[in-house]
Amino acid sequence: MPKRWPELGGPSFLDFDEARVQARAFLPRALFDYIDRGTEGEVALRALHDGFSRRRVVPRVLRPVSAPDPATTLMGRRHDLPFVVAPTALAGMVRYDGEVAMARAARDIGVPFCVSTQSSTAIEAIAAGAPGADLWFQLYVWRDREQTWKLLDRVAAQGVSVLLLTVDTPASPKKVHNIRNGFGVPLRPSGRLALDLALHPRWTIGVMGRYRAQSGLPSYAHYPGGKAVTQAISDPRFALDMVLDAAFLAELRRRWPGRLILKGVMDPRDVQMAFDAGCDAVVVSTHGGRNHDGAANPLEMLPAIRQAVGPGRTLLADSGVRRGSDAAKLLAAGADGVLLGRAPLYGLAAAGDAGVRHMLTLLADELRGFMAFSGAPDLRALAGLDWLG
Ligand SMILES: Cc1cc2nc3c(=O)[nH]c(=O)nc-3n(C[C@H](O)[C@H](O)[C@H](O)COP(=O)(O)O)c2cc1C
Repeated sequence: MPKRWPELGGPSFLDFDEARVQARAFLPRALFDYIDRGTEGEVALRALHDGFSRRRVVPRVLRPVSAPDPATTLMGRRHDLPFVVAPTALAGMVRYDGEVAMARAARDIGVPFCVSTQSSTAIEAIAAGAPGADLWFQLYVWRDREQTWKLLDRVAAQGVSVLLLTVDTPASPKKVHNIRNGFGVPLRPSGRLALDLALHPRWTIGVMGRYRAQSGLPSYAHYPGGKAVTQAISDPRFALDMVLDAAFLAELRRRWPGRLILKGVMDPRDVQMAFDAGCDAVVVSTHGGRNHDGAANPLEMLPAIRQAVGPGRTLLADSGVRRGSDAAKLLAAGADGVLLGRAPLYGLAAAGDAGVRHMLTLLADELRGFMAFSGAPDLRALAGLDWLG
């Protein structure tokens, strides 16, 4: 198993926990909490982590596992690694030009990077800044459908062929930490926020200061008019249409010629409905425990979902993955691939694009290590082991 010791001057973290500590030191508290925390009582977030801890494998021995191969097939295409960088809003606030850095790092490691509708860099700039990256796009639907379709035209014009429609956000989640910290769009200036910025000068000068000097404060870049984060999105046409229905999915399927993935489904009946409606894959997800504080875990639901749809359908999963072993457990439970949200963001905060590459490499190494210790030369063998919990 290769060992990843920190290189001089490069990323110095050795796992998710260490990257998280470095991210917390670098980022203002308001931004760190926005990324890190769950919703309401954070029951769902704890349950995700507890669920991974409880799940254990019965290892096999005397098997050929000197070079475990975590390759997978997603929607008919082979991928050397079963990871996708998840869409995360405002990732460009973590580091200057952070979304381009993430897209480049994902490309270098050979995994797709999913751009969020709420990214602070527009799809055109990400595509230009990371040529050759496998870019996916995540859609939040605006009330003004014509503007939504125009956005999809821009996405398609960049050669993006995979679209994720997020459907697990039918309301605004209650997040006390964001309200207390004054974090939101628009950002609300306050004494507390000013102190937070003063206590994190590397970020305040290196990220915000640089944006201010070079391109203006970051914004939701896909929103027409490109509002800075300090301004409200007051135009009702660009309010998120949070209540979507099957008719909308059918219309989207008609309009989008590429691959279509429904993100944020948990019930086997909804997954079946997605495939019946012509989706190419789903993401079994609770949005990282950030939306519904009483939701079940993807790990619990995956076996029933896999059984309902059969072996040929592509199932992706995410939420709460901090280690290669967590990813292994989702893959063994029925997922073909795993989205990573916070992990690459912490890599980015800790050390820019090198940090994202390092984080993805560490997770891949941990996954291979888990496979070796379990006696699983490939992901199919991993799923065939006996699992407890
Ligand atoms: C800071 C942050 C912003 C996010 N923004 C979006 C978004 O814009 N669209 C979306 O579909 N999911 C969004 N998500 C959810 C992720 O795509 C993903 O489902 C989740 O982060 C996975 O859990 P993990 O962070 O524990 O890996 C966001 C997650 C985080 C942490």
